[in-house]
Amino acid sequence: MADRKPLISGNWKMNHNHFEAIQMVQKLAYALSQNDYDVVDVSVHPPFTDLRSIQTVLESDDIPIALGAQNCHWEAKGAFTGEVAPGMLAKMNVSVVIVGHSERRELFGESDDEVNRKVKAVLANGMTPIMCCGETLEEREADGAVTKVKLQVLAGLAGLKAEQVAGLVIAYEPIWAIGTGMTATPEDAQEMCSAIRGVVRSKWGAEAAHGVRIQYGGSVKGANAPDLMGQSDIDGALVGGASLDADEFARIIGYRLVG
Ligand code: PGA
Repeated sequence: MADRKPLISGNWKMNHNHFEAIQMVQKLAYALSQNDYDVVDVSVHPPFTDLRSIQTVLESDDIPIALGAQNCHWEAKGAFTGEVAPGMLAKMNVSVVIVGHSERRELFGESDDEVNRKVKAVLANGMTPIMCCGETLEEREADGAVTKVKLQVLAGLAGLKAEQVAGLVIAYEPIWAIGTGMTATPEDAQEMCSAIRGVVRSKWGAEAAHGVRIQYGGSVKGANAPDLMGQSDIDGALVGGASLDADEFARIIGYRLVG
C-alpha cells in the first residue's frame, strides 16, 4: 500500500434523516478509537439535509471523522433549482465530495464533462474529490472494462495539474458489484486499480501516481475488507450498504485487526 494512508468512506446515499444520522455517527465514533484514526482516514457522506447536524456533532465532540458530501454542482451560485454549490459545502467544513458516482451517471445522466467540472469546482473550494469510475457487467464481459475505466479517469480529471491529481481520490466501483453482494475478487480489483494508477502515471507522472489514493467500492463488508485492502494499489474503500450499520462499518475500518 506504499505510504498512502487509506481512506475509508461511508456513502449513505438517500438514507438516514438528520436524527438517525446523529445517532449513527455517535455510534460509529464510539466504536472507533485513536488507533483507527492513526492509520486510516475515515469520512462519512450523509444526505445534504444531515450535513449541518453531523458537522455539529463531529466538531463539538472532537471526532476526527471527515465530513463528506455525495454530490455538488460546479457553479458557485445562481438559478440552479435544487442544486447545492461547492462553496456552501466548504462553509460547513465538508472536506470530501463524491463526484460522478455510478448512480449519478446512470440514473441522473451525469456526463464525463459534468463530472470533470465538478471535480474542478470541488478542488477550487479546497475540498478533496472522490472521482468514481467503473464498468457495467456487459462491458466487463465484452473485455471493455479497462478501456471504459481508463477513459473515465482521463475525462474526469482532464485539465488538472499533477499536484492536484496527487492529492485526490479515485474510487473504482464496478457497477455490477454495487449493492448486489457480488464483490470483485481482490485480484480483479487490484488489476483495475493498478491500471488506473498506470493511466495516472502516463498522463500526470510518477509523483501523481504515487500520491493518488484509489478506493475500491462494491459490496465491501467487514469480512472481505482485509483481502481487498491488502492489495498494493487499493488505498481504501467506498462503502454503501455496510456503512449504514455502525458496527459493520467499524469492522471495515478495523480491517487490519481481522483474521
Ligand atoms: P455498496 O455500495 O457498498 O452498497 O455496494 C457502494 C457504493 O455505491 O458506493
